[in-house]
Amino acid sequence: MTVRREAARTLAAAGVPSPDFDADELLAHVLGTTRSRLPYEPDLTPAQTQAYDVLVARRAAREPLQHLTGTAAFRHVELAVGPGVFVPRPETELLAGWAVEQAQAVVDTGRVPVVVDLCTGSGAIALSVATEVPAAEVHAVELGEPAHAWAARNLTGSGVDLRHGDMADAFPDLEGTVDVVVCNPPYIPLEAFESVAPEARDHDPELALFSGDDGLVAMRILERVAARLLRPVGVVGAEHADVQGESAPAVFAATGCCSGVRDHRDLAGRPRFLTARLAR
Ligand SMILES: C[S@@+](CC[C@H](N)C(=O)[O-])C[C@H]1O[C@@H](n2cnc3c(N)ncnc32)[C@H](O)[C@@H]1O
Repeated sequence: MTVRREAARTLAAAGVPSPDFDADELLAHVLGTTRSRLPYEPDLTPAQTQAYDVLVARRAAREPLQHLTGTAAFRHVELAVGPGVFVPRPETELLAGWAVEQAQAVVDTGRVPVVVDLCTGSGAIALSVATEVPAAEVHAVELGEPAHAWAARNLTGSGVDLRHGDMADAFPDLEGTVDVVVCNPPYIPLEAFESVAPEARDHDPELALFSGDDGLVAMRILERVAARLLRPVGVVGAEHADVQGESAPAVFAATGCCSGVRDHRDLAGRPRFLTARLAR
């Protein structure tokens, strides 16, 4: 389709990282179909062409693709997303997968796993665990008001216990009982503001991105919260920036709260998340 080729060229010229994929996704959105069905679709009507042009222009202005389609795919679930909530990223699927495995391991011992997703944002990790390990008891907390509203929408009917508040003092009722604490906290140093992609810098909430001068302020809070919530030998997993492959695990190693602190790489070989076990 000519219109689709032109759209991809426009997006490439605007510096969009995956112009062909995004042009296809937006076209599929306008046609109410999927990317794989595009070859079988008839030409766009004039009204559809106009709608497509508007979406391509907004994407060229670096609005996130997921804000334009209204959804983000994450593992086996679809999340509703838009202004006010962090768009879940593919790299976080690895951390969510780790949480799923840890919860399933508890199920395999004959117990109901208690899982807490701190900083839940859209609810992506909590919904994945609840969907993939239906026996799990899943709790989630989010501080940002708009993000909490998106999470409430995404988690409706999932059975997840969603709360609104600061992870620092969340879940006093669960202290010492949690099997798996999982968290994708904000972790970008304040000074790195300029280097953040426009989609994130201009559209993800600040609360979701930045975490003090070294990007580890939320990680230090998370370490204390995990130590408070975990049952003996419970586990914690946390995502971090690729440049924090040593500094983020060091937060957990420094206090002696945990044993077996180790870091995990993503599919591109970059340091991506740490895991540790409560040493008690
Ligand atoms: C990087 S986003 C991750 C969202 C989601 N877990 C995901 O992976 O897509 C971090 C989230 O933590 C929330 N947040 C930041 N500080 C928090 C705090 N002290 N307590 C609870 N949530 C917090 C932000 O509002 C944001 O939604």
